[in-house]
Amino acid sequence: MLYLKTGKLNEFETDAVIIPVSEDSQIHDNETIISLIKKTDTAAEFKGAKGDELTFYDLPDIKSKRVVFLGLGKIKDISSESLRAICGKSVKKCIRNKLEDILIVVPSSGKLGMETKEALESMAEGAFLANHIFDKYKKEKKLTTLKKVGFFLEPKSGEKYEDLLSQVEIICSGTILAREWVSTPSNDKVPDILAKDIALEAKKENLKIKIFDEKKLKQLGFGSLLAVAQGSENKPRLLILEYSPKGAKKTIALIGKGITFDSGGINLKPAGSLEDMKMDMSGAATVAATLISAAKIKPGVKIIGAIPIAENMLSGDATRPGDIVKSYEGKTIEINNTDAEGRLILVDTISYIIKTYKPDTLIDVATLTGACVVALGERIAGVFSSDDELAESIIKSSNKTHERCWRMPLPEDYKEFLKSDFADISNMSTSRWGGAITASLFLSEFTNSTKWAHIDIAGPAYIKKATDYCGIGGTGFGVRLLCDLIIKL
Ligand code: BES
Ligand code: MG
Ligand code: ZN
Repeated sequence: MLYLKTGKLNEFETDAVIIPVSEDSQIHDNETIISLIKKTDTAAEFKGAKGDELTFYDLPDIKSKRVVFLGLGKIKDISSESLRAICGKSVKKCIRNKLEDILIVVPSSGKLGMETKEALESMAEGAFLANHIFDKYKKEKKLTTLKKVGFFLEPKSGEKYEDLLSQVEIICSGTILAREWVSTPSNDKVPDILAKDIALEAKKENLKIKIFDEKKLKQLGFGSLLAVAQGSENKPRLLILEYSPKGAKKTIALIGKGITFDSGGINLKPAGSLEDMKMDMSGAATVAATLISAAKIKPGVKIIGAIPIAENMLSGDATRPGDIVKSYEGKTIEINNTDAEGRLILVDTISYIIKTYKPDTLIDVATLTGACVVALGERIAGVFSSDDELAESIIKSSNKTHERCWRMPLPEDYKEFLKSDFADISNMSTSRWGGAITASLFLSEFTNSTKWAHIDIAGPAYIKKATDYCGIGGTGFGVRLLCDLIIKL
């Protein structure tokens, strides 16, 4: 879908040539482009300010149908995220205008205060991610995605960007795969189906796949995971994906919360909090898509993706508040709130993975708490880790991909809020406050000495209002971040 072009810009026949323009400096050094930008002087409405847009049709001497100028604003405000956003916005507009093939001009090297590689990568990401429409459930498909998006640049001698573009395609296809799983309604992704759908995609990339059914989970003693699942007719699964390259020296385990619908259980959620709870498997989608992307990029580390999948429902068989269950690790848990189910399915998986695979690093990704959304809002995820180095590398990758994360504390003394009168631990804090922290501390009780981080994506995993390069629904948050992290390990 993405391709590169060099040579004579005016000779390419595309539906549109798109030229980003800065308000206060020339960011191009190609003569043809500079003279095209000169033509905008006659249009008083176009200054190159952020959000400005101007289209010329059928210009003489240029074969493309349209030339579109996009304002990037002042040079000091141009960042990789603003490039991602402007390309995304432009692709969406081209989709609405029913175009098929566009060519976006990359600012010249040395003109932006960032490497050409970084600019091209962000622009390609924005364009690719915006070129996605989730209309599986619409009878009439009103729009179609663009067939091709090209990037025009004149590389300095020796520079090649083909590999960069195919890496962007691989990783952003992962993000889109995750978005689709998250946006799919719960009736079409009950645990067995979701496990099979993911396995189908994983199989294409030759990942090793294991699926444990309810019987197997009972045999193994996943008491905490089974307690969450028992109120539903749709039985739980544990899906394990393995990418193991020859000679790998490190193992990283990724664990994703896969609640296909979170009703809250007997602690039923109120109306208004239920409607979007199909998104409660976003962590699972992110982990699965990361493994699938990783299998194509082929990094040198071994990666285990473990995905506990269950539906949190209420029925005559459902877990009752106050029930006590035995976790895989052996600790007993008093389930004082059936809506704090994410931590219950995660801890059994964490214990099993640590015991079976002895990973060097373990990262879990989960839409774990509403409290994290209260703390950081809907666009920023919380990172919890007692390992400074791991937390910093997650934040660093997050800054690069603009899947924003903020490190949160894990204060030892807050563990007192998880004390149970009758069992070894309670799944519900006795304090009203700091719910994202106490949820993380609950997980930490099962990680032993393994280097571990938890990413709470309850806020950014799902959006109700489209952004420049993401539509309403699942965002696929974390796929690009985790891929970047894995590549750098
Ligand atoms: N899935 C929810 C968390 C959530 C809330 C995700 C909003 C996305 C948006 C989780 O299982 C949950 O219900 N958490 C409770 C925990 C509480 C009962 C301790 C919460 O946050 O209210
Ligand atoms: Mg819940
Ligand atoms: Zn949940």
